[in-house]
Amino acid sequence: MMLTPKQRLIFALDVVSVNEVRQWVRLLKGYVGIFKVGKELFTACGPKAVDIIHSAGSEVFLDLKFHDIPNTVAKAGVAAAGLGVKMFNVHTLGGLKMMEAVREAVDKTCGKGKRPIILGVTILTSMDEKAIKQVGIQGPVKRRVLHLASLAKKAGLDGVVASPLEVKDIKKKLGKGFITVTPGIRMSDSKPDDQSRTMTPKEAISAGADYIVVGRPIREAKDPVAAANKILEEVR
Ligand code: C5P
Repeated sequence: MMLTPKQRLIFALDVVSVNEVRQWVRLLKGYVGIFKVGKELFTACGPKAVDIIHSAGSEVFLDLKFHDIPNTVAKAGVAAAGLGVKMFNVHTLGGLKMMEAVREAVDKTCGKGKRPIILGVTILTSMDEKAIKQVGIQGPVKRRVLHLASLAKKAGLDGVVASPLEVKDIKKKLGKGFITVTPGIRMSDSKPDDQSRTMTPKEAISAGADYIVVGRPIREAKDPVAAANKILEEVR
């Protein structure tokens, strides 16, 4: 799968109104292949946000991290596929059965090979060893991430969302074809915000990331188009 720099760039559309969605999509659709619709935007605007992006000819990563009983997640996945999104995700801690159920249900509805990419979320990058221990999961984080990514593969998911620092190990263990989508991207001269383990776009792609998710480094730039363009140049 050879992706162009534009196809690899996912913009985190972390806004709360359809007007902002329209403005950002109009501004960035020439530079960004996929717009990420997360919990904040989807809760505020619903499928309308997805429709606006599709109407502009761009694609959607529906980042709702489904985590519930298998039957419920399977139905949510079928609904996501019905919106025509390019990719959506589920939380691997929902278990093997939950992941299998959603993959099978979406396969059945869309036909194999025609369904959205289904990704697993492993350990949130906001959680360190102390935080996972508090909820009863023993570290080290890296080993848990690899274990949960393996479970996602076993369930037939297409890949995982992961920190750029975990990409190499995931690819080594699970194969090149197992997709990795990485947030936590910062330009070498930009501030880290609340991301603690970051890489530049070039570093992430060199490490093997298939897609990079970028939010604030574009959204808060003085010139967002120039920022997006700089990223495309960097990974070309
Ligand atoms: O602004 P920034 O580039 O940090 O945006 C990253 C996006 O990726 C945000 O929408 C955030 O919710 C999301 N994300 C993340 N870390 C994860 C999963 C998703 O930063 N592990």
